[in-house]
Amino acid sequence: SLPHVFITRRLPASLEQLQTIANVEVWMERQPPPYDILLAKAQAVDGLLCLLTDKIDCELIAASSLKVISQMAVGYDNIDIAAATAKKIPVGHTPGILTNATADLTWALIMSAARRVVEADKFTRAGLWKTWEPDLLLGPDVAGATLGIIGLGRIGQAVARRAQGFEMKILYTNRQRCAPEVEKLLNAEFVSLEKLLQESDFISIHTPGSEDTYHLLSDREFALMKPSAILINTARGTIIDENALYRALSQKQIAAAALDVTEIEPLPMDSLLLSLDNLIITPHIGSASQQTRKKMAEMAIANLIAGLKGDRLPHCVNPQVYS
Ligand code: GLV
Ligand code: GLV
Repeated sequence: SLPHVFITRRLPASLEQLQTIANVEVWMERQPPPYDILLAKAQAVDGLLCLLTDKIDCELIAASSLKVISQMAVGYDNIDIAAATAKKIPVGHTPGILTNATADLTWALIMSAARRVVEADKFTRAGLWKTWEPDLLLGPDVAGATLGIIGLGRIGQAVARRAQGFEMKILYTNRQRCAPEVEKLLNAEFVSLEKLLQESDFISIHTPGSEDTYHLLSDREFALMKPSAILINTARGTIIDENALYRALSQKQIAAAALDVTEIEPLPMDSLLLSLDNLIITPHIGSASQQTRKKMAEMAIANLIAGLKGDRLPHCVNPQVYS
């Protein structure tokens, strides 16, 4: 009999090929399946295709009969990878294909925060545009400024490539220093986090969410930044201490921030961050281009099919399961 799979949301890709080799159940609601349903499904199926909104923790994995977990995202901080590896369950993800889309959104936020596009739109709609004014809605130049990139992986490098057109100076931190050819191509200088924070006009985060990066930016780090600094986060909300960010923005210790991700998603509507004019917020749409979301769904399905067949996943987070 065919293996069973559970897909936690409707996907923007065809399930036809999957349906020839598996019994497929799709969660059809707009909200993610509640944890108890996910737990029950994980005990009843062979394959799970999940999103970053699904909490795949060690209890769920321990109780499960899963042979493969396939996440439709590049990040996987919602999944207890150690628990999956201990049970020899391969975990798939979708790297590479969302790099450009995420770098594009990062640039949309850099430009919007610098030139106050969201504020300007609200200003215009409020009927406040009375005349051309020499000092109306001024922001800093992007061209020629210094961009600090925290995490120069695939996405960080794509952001740096785009910065070449703006003749920016690039500083970066990374777990490991990049190869000299990469540094040369991107005109990027490897520095300490402290130096990056002190010298950058724009600071953009492209490192995974993990215990190591939890609250990487807090009061001490905001105090090091320039009063003119603009902070962008399209990575994971947990990397920024949001209370510290609120203090820094409201006291004008830094100029502005643009966040596509928050510590709690969705951002609670009573968050003080929503009261700030110098903050732009978008609802975790870094990879949200039509083409990219389709490719992500297709890659997640390909990982799932490989796992069901007992083949090596094309994009595996924990290849140790194969040794
Ligand atoms: C989105 O945040 C992803 O990790 O793909
Ligand atoms: C994610 O794709 C990264 O390596 O930046």
